[in-house]
Amino acid sequence: VIKGFAFDMDGVLADTARFHTIAWRKIADEVGTTWTKELEEGLKGIDRMGSLALIISAGRHDDEYDQSAREALAEKKNTNYRELISTLTPADILPGMQQFLDELKAANYQLSVASASKNAPFIIERLGLADYFEAVVDPASVAAGKPDPAIFAAAAKVLNLEPEQVIGLEDSAAGIQSINGAGEISVGIGNANVLAEADVNFDKTADVTLNAIKVALDSK
Ligand code: BG6
Ligand code: MG
Repeated sequence: VIKGFAFDMDGVLADTARFHTIAWRKIADEVGTTWTKELEEGLKGIDRMGSLALIISAGRHDDEYDQSAREALAEKKNTNYRELISTLTPADILPGMQQFLDELKAANYQLSVASASKNAPFIIERLGLADYFEAVVDPASVAAGKPDPAIFAAAAKVLNLEPEQVIGLEDSAAGIQSINGAGEISVGIGNANVLAEADVNFDKTADVTLNAIKVALDSK
């Protein structure tokens, strides 16, 4: 029996994926890596240093950046990103998600956030969503980031639930792998080809309701 939901944040609750893209593109330009749609998609769900490593590798610049140079680039990206998200308001909640959260609360489900972002507490607060969640998992507290199952496993644990009692929602391929690896039911939101491993998929956040999830799972 499902008792809880674990939410990715960027691209699921918050319309922030576009800001990550703007800020990472500047870094890609600086290191000389060509920006592609594949690179952009592959960064989703991946933590800050991991994303930077992917950008550097995509342009074959690995040898040019040591650890301290990487830390400086990551810091620069985050400073730029923090500026972009400083003006977030509840209007930046993705379509339908507040209604979905209301629906889940009314039905007494337990909710947690499983975001790779160290900026998650700030963003959840800016969006006015803090009161919906029993817990926000600190990504620094898990041994490995998405696609590793650790963060979604922690998102069930903080709710005192078994993985089988939890549904995870994600817009990234790495995140779907993390949910599946943790033994939870995975709901993908976005391109069904990219999120092919999800148990069920929706094109966009506005399509996600409790009933739509039940119907999709039943027809599997
Ligand atoms: C994920 C995003 O939610 O968080 C990634 O999908 C991002 O694009 C990652 O790199 C880490 O975010 P932050 O805010 O800690 O740099
Ligand atoms: Mg995401």
